[in-house]
Amino acid sequence: MTLLSGKRILLVIGGGIAAYKVLDLVRRLRERGASVRAAMTKAAAEFVTPLSVASLTGGKVYDDLFSLIDEAEMGHIELSRDADLVVIAPATADLLAKLANGLANDLASTLLLATDKKVLAAPAMNLRMWLHPATQRNVTTLRKDGVLFVGPNDGDMACGEYGPGRLAEPLQIVAAIAAALESDTAIPLPAGLARGAGAANGALAGRRVVVTSGPTHEPIDPVRYIANRSSGKQGHAIARAAAEAGADVALISGPVNLPDPAGVQTKHVETAREMLSAVDAALPADIFVATAAVADWRMAETGESKLKKGGNGAPKLHLVENPDILAAIAQRNHARPKLVVGFAAETDDVLAHARKKLEAKGCDLMVANDVSAATGIMGGDTNTIHIVTREGIDSWPTLDKDEVARRLIARLARELTA
Ligand code: C5P
Repeated sequence: MTLLSGKRILLVIGGGIAAYKVLDLVRRLRERGASVRAAMTKAAAEFVTPLSVASLTGGKVYDDLFSLIDEAEMGHIELSRDADLVVIAPATADLLAKLANGLANDLASTLLLATDKKVLAAPAMNLRMWLHPATQRNVTTLRKDGVLFVGPNDGDMACGEYGPGRLAEPLQIVAAIAAALESDTAIPLPAGLARGAGAANGALAGRRVVVTSGPTHEPIDPVRYIANRSSGKQGHAIARAAAEAGADVALISGPVNLPDPAGVQTKHVETAREMLSAVDAALPADIFVATAAVADWRMAETGESKLKKGGNGAPKLHLVENPDILAAIAQRNHARPKLVVGFAAETDDVLAHARKKLEAKGCDLMVANDVSAATGIMGGDTNTIHIVTREGIDSWPTLDKDEVARRLIARLARELTA
């Protein structure tokens, strides 16, 4: 496992001769387990073809702000936020100037302005352009705004001059990316705005809500992992609904293909143990909702190298139990959230199992649902749930996951004040 495993990088490629080096950068990042989405400026496409970039990232390359097809697949705002870090390489004088001045007249500059994640810039340009007071002024402004920089390096330039302006080497950029990812890369909205619509007088105004969502990935070796089919849709919808009701929301998400919900502080984790420590760090809270499908087991040990097929048959995976996050939080003696909510995803005897779990884990409310394959709930957009408490069971009709989230949040808000 490396620090980059499972991390999502949005790479904004600017138009410069050094653009060809980002092909190697993409390769290095993917070797280390990161995924890369690329957006290119029109000028960048003059230096490297979108096809080469797409072949290396293994995905679509985004280059057009006004493409209806792109917007239908993933809107530019979502694209700018569905990453752990945004990297500009090469960061041209033009891109830096646009970002320093808040210009957004193409996809690349719009992504840079709309993102809620940190931006790391790897400048590359002619040395006179780099040393020009205008560029230096922009770099100072951007540093003040929290933009991180790697390079430029001194050296021979494509234009025949010598000096600062060369793009940092791919491995140097990889190291800067790893360092940036070590700290929290989310940029919170200013206080007051970090809440959803109608927040100030919403049912959860002034309350803190912590939500877990998605699956966890438990590594078997550097390339394989144990996972499950959870999409994170229900957990993300709950975090969003809580923010819309005015709560201050922390979402701890396992690996999912969903954008971070607006107005929610989202922390991305991979394993159950990472999820538990992120939840711990996000507490205290009024409400804790454990929606995540946490893997029950992990490997007792994970080696540095890939398990090999050999003459000895299939390897025996030695598994150990993961911490139960829900039970750990529900059974706390001090600083226990006032309401602890669990999810019981079952394939048979749904209600009986949910009641047992409510007691075993010590939570206040269990949301039970049938996730047998025929229901299509895992990964689907609707959910049929039963609210199980010590007082009884409340069965809801099949609803959109967003509607389930809104009703659940409304109910939790009522319980908090009851
Ligand atoms: O025991 P089971 O996995 O069915 O319980 C489901 C509930 O417990 C969910 O709310 C899930 O988020 C939570 N859970 C947890 N940590 C685990 C396992 C489950 O928080 N290790």
